[in-house]
Formats: sequence, structure tokens, C-alpha cells
Amino acid sequence: GGKYKIVMVRHGESEWNQKNQFCGWYDANLSEKGQEEALAAGKAVKDAGLEFDVAHTSVLTRAQVTLASILKASGHKEIPIQKTWRLNERHYGGLTGLNKAETAAKYGEAQVQIWRRSFDTPPPPMEPGHPYYDNIVKDARYADGPKPEEFPQFESLKLTIERTLPYWNDVIIPQMKEGKRILIAAHGNSLRGIVKHLDNLSEDAIMALNLPTGIPFVYELDENFKPVVSMQFLGDEETVKKAIEAVAAQGKAK
Ligand code: 3PG
Repeated sequence: GGKYKIVMVRHGESEWNQKNQFCGWYDANLSEKGQEEALAAGKAVKDAGLEFDVAHTSVLTRAQVTLASILKASGHKEIPIQKTWRLNERHYGGLTGLNKAETAAKYGEAQVQIWRRSFDTPPPPMEPGHPYYDNIVKDARYADGPKPEEFPQFESLKLTIERTLPYWNDVIIPQMKEGKRILIAAHGNSLRGIVKHLDNLSEDAIMALNLPTGIPFVYELDENFKPVVSMQFLGDEETVKKAIEAVAAQGKAK
């Protein structure tokens, strides 16, 4: 095994995942199913005997509720929880709120796949006047950043990685060096960014990666924080496979 072990999990299904709407920085809640997934994730963590000294999550409710549920269901007492916009989901720009299947019907499945999974093709910007522009930009949770002049109106995966990686390098790695056992509860694309970095995935390889909701996965890293064990899901293969396929299928025109 590796010198370091870290556990990561995408939040459980959100109400917007359930309605198949592009979500990004919109602060959707967990659906009923997502709450059940979070509890199941907590049980899987407990069954695996995993314990954490500190947890990290985004400023978005769906990730924070998933984290709280996992910690509770796995018998954790109060541990420090650090919340940062740098772990937020990728900002889906002008696509925010649109139905993914309708968008695929309108622009083609290939274009939606590029918007969802490409490395450096961003979605269209969220312009002032967009139904969710004020809801997101004026939210007090961003008082600690990003700065107004840097507030994203859209993010490609490349742009997402550029704001997540400083947190990984400046906060997560030093805590692992201190021997802290860490759980990260975040989002499909902010985690795809971390995975791309850790496994040094090509742009083609990352295009093919979908992460399931609510199933924790483990990385074991060597002394240089390079993976010796990559993405070991705490779940049976069939369940994981089905959950990943469900995420991929959201982009079908139906
Ligand atoms: C969203 O932001 O819509 C989801 O959390 C992730 O969406 P995606 O799987 O379409 O990237």
C-alpha cells in the first residue's frame, strides 16, 4: 500500500441531477435518493474501517450534507470540516438550469458530451440577466472568494483544475504530510480534475471518465503523492458500473 491514503466522494444525487438539469454553482439540495446514497456511503466507510481526522468540502449544500451524513453514519465525532469554493462543482455557465436531454436534442449529443466532459472547451458564459446569475454571484458564501473580478461566468475542466489544484497542493498535501486522514466530499467535475492530476490522465482519457454519485473511492499515494492505488470504490463492481453508466446517460437526447 501507499504511504498516504485519502478518500473522496461525489455528493449524492441532487434534485437537479434528478431533473437532469445542468447544476454547476447553483446550490441544489440532495434528492431523497441522494440522502439515501449519502447514508449508504457512510455505512461503506464504516464497514471499511476508515476513520478521518479532517474533512474538506465545497461551499455547496449538496456536498456539505453528503459529508455530514457520511461522518454521522460512520460514527465520527466532531472533526474539523474545511469548506472552500475551490472544491465547488465546475461552473456550467449559461447551461446552468437547462435540461441536459433537451440540450442534447437541440445542439446534439456530441456537443453536450464536449461541454460535459472535454478538458478545455468551456460551456457558454452565464451573462448578467441569466435566471441564476444574481442568485449565484450575490451569494454571501463567496465573501471569502473568488474575488468579484475573478468570479467565474463559466468553467472548462481545465479552468476548474486551475482553481482546485492550489487547494490540493497548499492545504490537502501538507495535512497528509502531518499524518492527517482526510475525506473530501465534492463534485463530479472538481473530483475529475483531481483524478486527472493524480493519475496524469490524457485529455482523451479524462473525456471518458464519469464519477458516480455517493460512492466513496480511495487513493493510496506514495511519498511523492503519486498513486500506488487509484480510485478503489467502496462498493461492488456491478453497483459502481451501473451508477457510472447512469451519469453518462444523462447526456442522451432521449
Ligand atoms: C452538474 O453540475 O450538473 C452535475 O453535478 C455534474 O454534471 P455533469 O455530470 O453533466 O458534468
